[in-house]
Amino acid sequence: MTRWNLPPDRIPSAWYNVLPRFETPMDPALHPGTRQPIGPDDLAPLFPMGLILQEVSPDPWIDIPGEVLDILRLWRPTPLVRATRLEAALGTPARIYFKDESVSPAGSHKPNTAVPQAFYNKQEGITRLTTETGAGQWGTALSFACAQFDLECLVYMVRTSFDSKPYRKVMMQAWGGQCVPSPVDDPSHPGSLGSAITDAVRDAVSRDDTHYALGSVLNHVLLHQTVIGLEAREQLEMAGERLPDVVIAPCGGGSNLGGVALPFYEDRSVRLLAVEPSSCPTLTEGRFEYDFGDTGEMTPLLPMYTLGHDFIPPTIHAGGLRYHGDAPIVSKLVKDGRMEAVAYPQSKVFDAALLFARTEGKVPAPEAAHGIRAAIDEALAAKETGEEKVILFNYCGHGHLDLQAYDDYLNGRLVD
Ligand SMILES: Cc1ncc(COP(=O)(O)O)c(C=O)c1O
Repeated sequence: MTRWNLPPDRIPSAWYNVLPRFETPMDPALHPGTRQPIGPDDLAPLFPMGLILQEVSPDPWIDIPGEVLDILRLWRPTPLVRATRLEAALGTPARIYFKDESVSPAGSHKPNTAVPQAFYNKQEGITRLTTETGAGQWGTALSFACAQFDLECLVYMVRTSFDSKPYRKVMMQAWGGQCVPSPVDDPSHPGSLGSAITDAVRDAVSRDDTHYALGSVLNHVLLHQTVIGLEAREQLEMAGERLPDVVIAPCGGGSNLGGVALPFYEDRSVRLLAVEPSSCPTLTEGRFEYDFGDTGEMTPLLPMYTLGHDFIPPTIHAGGLRYHGDAPIVSKLVKDGRMEAVAYPQSKVFDAALLFARTEGKVPAPEAAHGIRAAIDEALAAKETGEEKVILFNYCGHGHLDLQAYDDYLNGRLVD
């Protein structure tokens, strides 16, 4: 057997909240003007109270509303797959498993949080959401979720991705969303997630009917993504494994990583590994300090690893990993020594993507391929030592709309 599916009624009914389980508390977010800890009212122009309360919730489990579960069930639970053909190609004694989040409507893990975010906004009477998107995965996910709740959706897409991935915009439009390139006021600028956040926040605060939705970084986003790791725990047991030795995921803002890794936080024997691009090495080379989430200095200051909010990363193909900061939860785990981080140049990442495509058949998103690269290197290290290691990685998205990247790689045009 190489694939384990959970029946629809075994979808997790509560999210795993890591906050009350930390041995030391998280540092608070600070108001951008006063530099004092922010309170719920400070965030109310941007987010519904349902999400603001989740941001600081002391409850170890938070029930998933039935309306949200009904939509998640369109594709969840997602399969856990053992990559036996990749194992054979590597000649490794390691057992490699991946959680297949590419089966969602948008093709990635992003709808896991887009759906509850749209739900809580709808509950509060909001009729329009704005957001940023890097590779376009988050923008498509939010457009899909808004369609479920009859909300308008406007997506500010990082200009370099807007130009190189035109079909993402079409997908957003198919679900009724709108997509414009960012920064809106400088057509010659390649853009970054930081600048697209500024555009989306500025729009949201200018209208009473509009809120802002963030696809990563914040505590509530990582919370919603924990359905990934919760399902994977059960499925690994079905596969006859006790616990993985290592859990791996790419890290842009930290949401798919948090989603697969946090439910293993309390299992101290399980290594947690973040993978990032060498061209945007936030965890491996950044500083841990308070910084803005956007280039325009409109967001609260967050305690996180950062390359500086004015850092504009090179235009690599993994657009979703081009973020100067990281989730405060992920940053804390790395700072506390509970999580490791590694960085790769994109040529090594695409070597891994092609090996995966040619063995397991799936063409990964460039972001997902970062996790695959690290999983392969863990498996090769196990081959050296002869260890029967159990490796779990998050297959966080397919690359069917990232084919320009593959064209560049296959024709020798990819630069590191
Ligand atoms: C497929 C995919 N994986 C990973 C990421 C990185 O985001 P995060 O670190 O929040 O999972 C993105 C972001 O757009 C993405 O589209």
